[in-house]
Amino acid sequence: MSVEQVPFITLNRFEEGFKEKILNGVTELVDKTQFVGGPQVAKLEETLSQKCGAKHVVGCGNGTDAIQLALRAVGVERNDVVLIPDMTFWATFEAVVNAGGNPVTVDVNKATCHWDITTFKQAVDQFKPKAAILVHLYGWACQDTLAIRAYAKENGVLLIEDGAQSFGTKINNEPILGTALMATTSFYPAKVLGASGDAGAIFTNDESLAKTARFLVNHGRTNHYSHGLVGWNSRIGSYECLFLNHSLEHIDDRLASRMNAVSYYKEYLKDLPIKVVISADQVEENGYCAVAMVDPDLRGGLIETLKAAKVGFGTIYPGAMSLQSGAAKYLHGKIQNGNADYIAKAVLNLPCFSYITEEELAYVVATVKKHFI
Ligand SMILES: Cc1ncc(COP(=O)(O)O)c(C=O)c1O
Repeated sequence: MSVEQVPFITLNRFEEGFKEKILNGVTELVDKTQFVGGPQVAKLEETLSQKCGAKHVVGCGNGTDAIQLALRAVGVERNDVVLIPDMTFWATFEAVVNAGGNPVTVDVNKATCHWDITTFKQAVDQFKPKAAILVHLYGWACQDTLAIRAYAKENGVLLIEDGAQSFGTKINNEPILGTALMATTSFYPAKVLGASGDAGAIFTNDESLAKTARFLVNHGRTNHYSHGLVGWNSRIGSYECLFLNHSLEHIDDRLASRMNAVSYYKEYLKDLPIKVVISADQVEENGYCAVAMVDPDLRGGLIETLKAAKVGFGTIYPGAMSLQSGAAKYLHGKIQNGNADYIAKAVLNLPCFSYITEEELAYVVATVKKHFI
């Protein structure tokens, strides 16, 4: 069948029998009235712990809550300074504000789109933060992760890693979610490991941090009617866990097909005024999205061609955090070198989703090539 359009993302390419397993599982949960907690939740946390190599995993309501849980668990309190990258999703900024902290945005490196150690050191020395959130964007891991972890530790900065987009991503052969002081992820349906609604998790090897996060996620409960902390309700639902548990059975194939898409673009879009960027050598990415950089003066024209050819695309993200209108009221400080702003104007994401076909990839490539040649 000839391809005449390709969505930026579609969530409906399920494996044979997947939907039936979910529907049967839901029937069982309803019959057993297992709605919150129960074996599906325990199974998910256990599987994630094994897959990511983190001793403790706590499921929660979504990826934003996961960051808030982590900030609260490490001890961020009202007016504590927290560094975040200027290029991330707005949830990172929101989480700091909602936890009572004062966000400082720190610019990213133009080539890697992530923090680099030089700017991170400068920010730590200048702002003396209590905590920092290292964000691993695009399903990559930040290239300077190990150096940033080490510098944070030496300087008493509590480093949380926002891996909302980086389930399955490794650095030096180790999953980033399992090697951070405290990492978080999102199971929003469009993520590589997506639920059928909102869900998230925190990951840590530290027993005491895990215990605090488990209290916070469930009204600060230390037992059923004793509240040792003021938390909130961010418990993960059983339906979401059921969906995620079945999704995990196929996760390797899903990630491989996404990675195939990224490699395809890299291979077939060479020598054009569009640069498909992949993560650093020591990073094994998960194919969350295909990232290309285009001269900002050329991006608008290419976007019009993609639209005309019905090829979906993204611009993740079209604006730096410090420039959002909601930021002004809370921004405590910033290091702004113009890089996040440049990336926002140059980034272009091509279609990338589980089980995208070779025909669809060929159609995207042909559309881009026709535009430039
Ligand atoms: C980098 C990053 N952080 C946090 C989040 C928030 O996750 P959620 O939408 O599950 O709250 C997202 C989700 O898109 C994200 O991409």
